Amino acid sequence: MPASRLFTPFEVRAVRLPNRVVISPMCQYSATDGFAGDWHFAHLAKFAIGRAGLVFTEAAAVEADGRITHGDLGIWRDEHIAPLQRITAFVKAQGSIPAIQLAHAGRKASMQRPWFGNGPLDETDAQRGEVAWPIVGPGANPLGPGWLTPHALTKSEMQRITQSFVAAAARADRAGFDVVEIHAAHGYLLHSFLSPLTNPRTDVYGGSRENRMRFPLEVVAAVRASWPAAKPLFVRVSAVDDLEGGWTIDDSIAFATELKRLGVDVVDCSSGGALGSATAAAKPLTPRVPGFQLPFAEAIRAGAGIATMAVGLILDAHQAEAALQAGQADLIAVGREALYDPNWALHAARALGDDPRFERWPEQYGWWLTRRQPLLERERRD
Ligand SMILES: Cc1cc2nc3c(=O)[nH]c(=O)nc-3n(C[C@H](O)[C@H](O)[C@H](O)COP(=O)(O)O)c2cc1C
Repeated sequence: MPASRLFTPFEVRAVRLPNRVVISPMCQYSATDGFAGDWHFAHLAKFAIGRAGLVFTEAAAVEADGRITHGDLGIWRDEHIAPLQRITAFVKAQGSIPAIQLAHAGRKASMQRPWFGNGPLDETDAQRGEVAWPIVGPGANPLGPGWLTPHALTKSEMQRITQSFVAAAARADRAGFDVVEIHAAHGYLLHSFLSPLTNPRTDVYGGSRENRMRFPLEVVAAVRASWPAAKPLFVRVSAVDDLEGGWTIDDSIAFATELKRLGVDVVDCSSGGALGSATAAAKPLTPRVPGFQLPFAEAIRAGAGIATMAVGLILDAHQAEAALQAGQADLIAVGREALYDPNWALHAARALGDDPRFERWPEQYGWWLTRRQPLLERERRD
């Protein structure tokens, strides 16, 4: 039995995560026409080698126009399956569980890759072959001055997007993913319906909270109905908009209650992004201190009675363990800290005393490290 909760397996439907460390979805902006390449393989493989229990791909677009940038991963064509299958096979061979996040960027589509400016695609990008494309949203309200004006989705277009999520989930199943997460956070399409700051509709998809939740819930219900019953479904939310007059934690608890009713297994609790970047908000109401989103995971877990995944500046093993022990969340996602240390899970197990003899490490590494350890200890004693 592991001493820590972080390394106690997590069972959900027929899937057993070997531990509670999750690699958070992280866009690499490095795909061509949505296809995963060698970068995606190496990027995700190293987290499985590092023994994270659940390894998420970045947001994969369910339609080509639902990409944030030209470099986004995609899953809108059957041809996208094969390179993803190579990734899931490797992740599973390492004993980790492969997961994919499904997304439509909505009014935040057609952007520059971060290193080309993170703004709307312009003439400079067009010269590189990265031409802007028409975008969609709940209404014809752009993200801000200078951004593209979205086309306000009609009911039949929304039904088409719902079916794109369903088809993408079917491809994810064929590609070997065991967990699907629907992206309903960070100002992308589904979140833009939820937030009163971004949804100007006057039909049954706008106005009251119940109406604003309708389209995201339709997508979730349709995916849940077709995604295998043995496989868990996660939904990522922006637990709060973190802006005056925006989506609140009470709204998230109401939403999570509906998600639970529809058969969602885990709510992944992020925040922000309605009107700009989720990771680099200019003046967030919630200070960006370590674990700043943990209270959201805790409130949703308690308020809706559903398992939650916490994320956001969770930096070290003891912080993660304390959050689990305190009942704030069931799973701990690490993003940037895993970029800094792809072996975050293995190092966490050592820090928590759960792996004194490197038994969790791949034998290709562990065999050597076990034998090196006495030398290091002797060196320290002398
Ligand atoms: C490079 C990068 C790409 C990201 N891409 C996504 C994404 O595809 N989907 C998503 O929901 N969040 C995305 N995020 C947000 C992360 O999943 C995570 O919530 C955020 O970085 C906070 O966690 P951290 O402090 O551990 O990095 C991204 C973050 C980074 C740094």
